[in-house]
Order: sequence, then structure tokens, then C-alpha cells
Amino acid sequence: MKDHLKQQINGGAIKPGGKLPSIRELSEQWGCSNNTVIRAINELEKEHLIYAVPKSGHYVIVRPSPSADRPAGQIDMAVAAPDPGIIPYEEIRHGLNRAVELYGDHLFSYGDPLGIPSLREAVSRHLADAQIFAGSERISVVSGSQQALHLLASMPFPNGKSTILVEQPCYAGMLTILRLLGATAIGIARTESGLDLDELERHFRSNAVKFFYTVPRYHNPLGTSLSRREKEAIAALAEKYDVYIVEDDYLADLETDSKSDPIYSYDRSGRVIYIRSFSKIMLPGLRLGAAVLPPAFIPSFRMYKASSDSSTAALSQAALEIHLSSGLFRRHADMTKERYGVRMRMLQEACSRYLNEDCRPSPSTGGIFAHLKLPDRLSAEELAAALRRKDVYVFHTAPCYLPSVESANSLRLSIIRTDEKQIEDGIRIIRETADELMSQRSAGKFSRSAVTWM
Ligand SMILES: Cc1ncc(COP(=O)(O)O)c(C=O)c1O
Repeated sequence: MKDHLKQQINGGAIKPGGKLPSIRELSEQWGCSNNTVIRAINELEKEHLIYAVPKSGHYVIVRPSPSADRPAGQIDMAVAAPDPGIIPYEEIRHGLNRAVELYGDHLFSYGDPLGIPSLREAVSRHLADAQIFAGSERISVVSGSQQALHLLASMPFPNGKSTILVEQPCYAGMLTILRLLGATAIGIARTESGLDLDELERHFRSNAVKFFYTVPRYHNPLGTSLSRREKEAIAALAEKYDVYIVEDDYLADLETDSKSDPIYSYDRSGRVIYIRSFSKIMLPGLRLGAAVLPPAFIPSFRMYKASSDSSTAALSQAALEIHLSSGLFRRHADMTKERYGVRMRMLQEACSRYLNEDCRPSPSTGGIFAHLKLPDRLSAEELAAALRRKDVYVFHTAPCYLPSVESANSLRLSIIRTDEKQIEDGIRIIRETADELMSQRSAGKFSRSAVTWM
């Protein structure tokens, strides 16, 4: 039964996005019990070939080629937008339809700038799973976490300070905000092994730091996470020096270590502003995120939010509420985590096969990024350009540095839009291309080509 359904799905007899016959129809067709059909369906769900929509039925997952935005044959390890192959479009469409049915006219007028109250409550319950305990009155829905970062960088803070401290490297989108706002920004080094806490204390003590922007979990572009000791220390230093922490937890829903808690959970003084994105699990185009704010921030944040977009699109908010409340969000997050986990393992294995020990990314079982530091004699910029000519796309990390900070010679590799074969091919081509560049450079000068670069 299961094999037959699988054949129908793989052979296209039931099209991607198409609905399976009901359990009753299948049991009649096959002359078997409902239980046998349910077992087969459960197994297909586990294999991520189909998914259930409550009160509707089972649908075949839409799985366009992983590089849907790029022509076939290209390997995309540069982008951070979710894999269209694992986005549950049908579920999301169903959620949007339900939202229109449930909320009707309310969806088509202006709403509360901080978000639909029932969604804020659903977000509050969702965040509690990750040790973020905050009542809905302290939560604002935002139009993507990017908006929260922009508003926080723009608005004055109660500590009256104005310098923004960022990790180096850090999320390039945050640096763009700071540059466009003309904000005073300074950097502190973040490496695969974390932060220098003495250095952080020096910054907090000697500079008028309004907030420290950090991505403790699955850092972009490093891919690594801060330790519990570091997170506790950051919360304590924030209190000691009256510095706010903007904790960007964009990948919290993909955490593989259940013991890894956010800085927010160690905060005793109300100085951590916690930001969550919903882009990496739902569609980034829905523009959904949430910010947990200290109570004193709420009036001012509401004003800045309203002046930015009046309110986040109500249709997106309603779809998120339905996903959170029905459990679909959690199920999809778990499935995404499992898929990306397999890819991350493949990436680590491919790196150990093709690259020398000192050139491998830090081991990681989760997240979406790995960071590849290159030896000085191999320019990351040149390597990225040479790879582009071979249709392999990687991200050179230069935009992750402040203009005043020397950028590392490194690449960020993303597993989000790849499959197992592309990961293997991608890392092999990186190795070959690096060898070619090195041997071109040393042609005639050395007897042996520089094949030992990595
Ligand atoms: C670290 C980090 N923060 C924030 C964002 C913005 O996400 P959103 O789509 O929620 O605005 C991104 C996007 O990739 C990111 O990498």
C-alpha cells in the first residue's frame, strides 16, 4: 500500500501539491482496513513525501529543484532564504484561506501597531518553549526581524547612550541599517570560539554603548553559538554597565540542543531585548518576526513601529497565528531542522574529505551556515569569483565587517538551498578551484603546485 502510493507520488500520478484520496476511499480501493491505510500514510509523512492539513486531508509536498531561483546545474551555497523545496506552500495557502474565513473584514483594515492581540498571545506561548517567558503585553509583532533591528537602532534608549556595539563579523543586514542611519558603530571580535569577555567589559565600561547586538545562536556568518558561560556573563555585564543587549535569535526554531537557552533567560535586570524571526520556517515573504521588549520601551516602540508601517500585514499575522495554534509551525520547524541537520552533517563530512584540517569549518550539527577561513595566500574574493564562473555560488564575508575593521579572508557556506549531491560537488569544486588558483599563482616559481593549500 505504502509502496504503491509512493510510486504514484514519485511517478507524478498524484502531482506535487495534489490531494491524496481520503482514508475511506483508499481502504475501499485496496480492500484493507482504515488502520492499514493510516499506517501507510504515517510512514509517508515521516518520509516527508506528504503532509496533513487538519480537517482537509493529506497533500503531496511540493518539491521544486533546490536551486529553484537558479538554472539547473548551478550550486547555490550563498543564499540564506529558505529552500522552496521544503516550504509547505499548500499548508500556508490553507492557513491564509482559514485566516480570511476566521477574521473576515478585520484583515483588511488598520490594526494595532504591536500586532493582533491573539497572535501576540500565541507568540508568547511559542517563545516559552525556548525559555523566553514574557506576557503578550511585552511582545510586538514586527514585519520581519529586520524591522525590529531598524526600529531599535533608530529609537532613543532609556540609558541615554548612542554607540552601537556589534560583533565582527556580524549579520550584514544589520551593518546596512547602521550605515544608512549614520549610527556610531564599533566592533568586538567574534570568532568560532566566541567572544573575549574582558574585551566586552572594556567596551561596556569605556564606551557609551546603547546596545550590544549579538546573534548567540548559529551566528551569521560564523555558524557557531555562544556558550552558556558567555551568555550568562553578557547578561551580568549588561546590568553592571547599564548596556542593553539586542539578542537576535533568528534561528531559534532550528536549535538541536534542548539545553541551549537564550541570553534573555539569564537576564535579571530587564536589559535584554529578544528578537525572533519566523522567516526561516515560514515564507520570508510573509515578513513576520517578534520582539520582546522591556515594559518601559513599549510606548516608544509602538510609536516607531506605527510610523514605520502602521502595522504588520494582518493577513500574514493571521496565517502565523493559525500555524502556531494548530501545531503546524512546530511540525514544520521539526521537519526543517531534520532536513538541514542532514545537510549540515554532509557538509562537515565533505569538508573533512576534501579540505585539510586547518581549513575546516567548526563542527556544527545545526543551523544553516558554515564559515570557511582561507589561508592568506588564497584570496576569498578571487576564489568566490572563480567559483561563480563555474556556477558555484558562495558568500564572501567582507560585507559582514564595519568599514573600520579589517575583514577576514573567509567564505560563508549555506546549506539551505542545496541537496546532498550538490554539497559534495560544491566542496569538491571549491577544493579544485582553490588548487587551480594556487597553481596559477605559483606557476614557474615553485616546483610543486600549491595543492597543499587546504
Ligand atoms: C542574523 C539575521 N538576523 C535577521 C535577519 C532578517 O530576517 P527577517 O526575514 O526576519 O527580517 C536575517 C536574515 O537572514 C539574519 O540572518
